[in-house]
This record gives sequence, C-alpha cells and structure tokens, in this order.
Amino acid sequence: MSKLFSPYQIGPVTYRNRFVRSATQDWLCDENGVSSEKQLELYKNLAAGGVGLIITGHAYVSHPLGRAALRQNGICDEKQVEGYKRMVETVHQHGAKIFLQLNHAGRQTLPELIEGNMPVAPSDRFDEKGNQLARALTLDEIERIKEAFEAAALRAKRVGFDGVQVHVAHGYLLAQFLSPFTNQRQDEYGGQMEQRTALPAEIAYRVKAAVGRQFPVYAKLNTTDGITSPVQLSLEEAVYAAQMLEAHGVDAIETSGGTARESRLVMAKPAILKPEQEAYFAPAARQIRAAVKIPLLLVGGLRSVAVMESLVEEGTADMVSLCRPFVREPALVNSLAAGQAKATCVSCNACFNPEGLRCSYSGPAL
Ligand SMILES: Cc1cc2nc3c(=O)[nH]c(=O)nc-3n(C[C@H](O)[C@H](O)[C@H](O)COP(=O)(O)O)c2cc1C
Repeated sequence: MSKLFSPYQIGPVTYRNRFVRSATQDWLCDENGVSSEKQLELYKNLAAGGVGLIITGHAYVSHPLGRAALRQNGICDEKQVEGYKRMVETVHQHGAKIFLQLNHAGRQTLPELIEGNMPVAPSDRFDEKGNQLARALTLDEIERIKEAFEAAALRAKRVGFDGVQVHVAHGYLLAQFLSPFTNQRQDEYGGQMEQRTALPAEIAYRVKAAVGRQFPVYAKLNTTDGITSPVQLSLEEAVYAAQMLEAHGVDAIETSGGTARESRLVMAKPAILKPEQEAYFAPAARQIRAAVKIPLLLVGGLRSVAVMESLVEEGTADMVSLCRPFVREPALVNSLAAGQAKATCVSCNACFNPEGLRCSYSGPAL
C-alpha cells in the first residue's frame, strides 16, 4: 500500500493520509477577518475531497499592523471565533484535520490595509516593490507581537483547531527577521543568524509553552528569499533556523521559499508541467532533513503521484503539501486515490485573485 495514501501520525495527531493543503489565502472573509459562508463551503469541499490536513490561509495575529491582505482571516478578536468553530466542525465531520496559520505582515502590507499606519519591519527601510517606507519595531512592540502570537495560538486551540502553523516564510514579519535583506538591527534581534533567528525561535517557544505538548505547533520556513540582492538568506542560515525552531519546540517544518512581494514566482513557480520541474524546494529540504529530526512537509510544485511517492520513500518529505492544485481540484486526493496520475493544475497563478480564490484556467490539460 502506498505510503502517500496511508495514515500517518505526528505526535498526538493521526492524519488519514500524507496530503496537506498548504496555507492558502482566499480573500473570503469580511472586513473584520471573520469567516464567511463561502469560506465554509471551500473548506467543506476540501475536507470532503480527501486531503489529510488543511492549513488555513494566513490569519493575522494583531490588528491593524499585522494585516497583509483584504478580506484576510484574523485571529485576534472574539468576533472571529464563531466562524472558525463552524469551519473546524465541518472539516472534522469530513475526516480531515485543520491547522490555523498564524502570521504578522510586517512590511509586506499597505497603509490602506492597516488603517493608514506606516508598515512595521525589523529595520527602517524603503520598500521599492511596495513603493513605501517601513519603520523599525521597538523592543516594546516586539514583546507585544510575541504576546499576540501566543494569544492567537491559545484562541486557535480553544476553537478546536488541531494545531497551528507559525508563518516564517514568504517575506512576512518573522521571515523579515531571518533575512539580512530586511533585518539590519543591531540589538539582540539582528546581526548574525543567531540574533536574526531569535524572534521566530522565541515565538515558537512561547506558543508551544502556552498550548502544551499535546497541541502541535508547526512552522513554515523560508529556505531562500529568492531575490536578486546579494544580501539575502542563505540555505546554510535557513538550516540553522530550522534547527533553532526544532530546539524551541516546533513539531514539524514545512519548507518553502520566496517572498510574496519581491519574488512571488520563486514561491509559486509558474508552469510546472513536467516531473523534473516539480518539487522545486526538494534540494533545500534535503539539507534541512539532514539537520533536524522532526517531520518535514514539502511544498512547491508537487503535482504527480510518482514524484510525491519518491519524495516520501526517500525521506525528503514526510507529508506532501500542495496549494494551487487544490484550488482547481478540491477533491484532488480522492481523484489521485482513484487512479488519476497527477494534478491538472497548470500553475498559471491566476488563482492569486483578490476577488476570491478560484481557478480560471479552461484550456486543455497540459
Ligand atoms: C492564491 C494563493 C494564496 C496563498 N496563500 C498563502 C498563505 O496564506 N500562506 C502561505 O504560507 N502560503 C500561501 N501561498 C503559497 C502556497 O501555500 C505554496 O507555498 C505555493 O503556492 C507553492 O505551492 P504549489 O506549487 O503547490 O502551489 C499561497 C499561494 C497562492 C497561489
């Protein structure tokens, strides 16, 4: 029996298979970060479609400065709880597990999304892509952000989520701290990799200590910024960050790369059509695999059963994580289990659609 389609356990949670719906922002909340009927429907279809674990779209842990997108999920207000309760119940009724992804936007937002404020970041910096300034967080504000992640995780646990995933990827605040491109601080949170890793590691520790051993805390980690600047996160530094996250209580790591603003096409590579184009973060994941003992989730261009099987068999990934294919085929896992060889997603990236997540590709299968 294929490992991909067999149950798999990490700590207290047993998944019905090794497939993960990677965190996916869907722009389906209201202006207050409250889940909608449409979002409930999306999660119901995913869970009914056979996937083992669903990771929600990134939810902001503090408002307004943590918010990254219009109609994004939030997890910093009691008003947001009821919608999540229904989401979790529905997903569980259909046999899947569900984690909430916790995020703070940092500089990767716009003043109009954060009530006209200037975005915050590890350091003062002009952001050419966003054409705006970000200001450095004070030490006091950094403390408040740690508290916000902790409170968000406790709220997620109370709602009934099976775990949380801390977002340390794609150029959001915690990834900004890791990267020398965005972090030029000269205090205990900047400088060498040890200092740049301090905030993500402290947050992992605080969150884990708050929620307890029986409630999983995963992290999504960048292995590269994928930008053109020579000053950026190296793979060696990412490996060190993975070790620190493990040492501070993280139960599993999902390896990714790129930033949503400067290098989106590194994160979500277009036109993944052949097996050799798939799993574009596998080489980085192998380096991390050699350095940590906790399970790894691999994301980035996974499309065919054969490739995913071999990644699990060789031990590069313990779970396989996909995003764009589930936009097109929410029931993808059931289809693959029934013999379909690969996802039909052509990785066109039209699903980056602030009007609401959907697949608009209607051309031939490629
Ligand atoms: C529409 C869209 C929304 C996304 N939202 C998130 C998100 O909220 N959090 C996150 O960590 N990654 C997010 N991603 C990145 C995906 O989780 C994934 O890392 C990336 O798309 C590569 O995987 P894929 O080739 O299977 O699509 C998003 C990607 C897309 C296309």
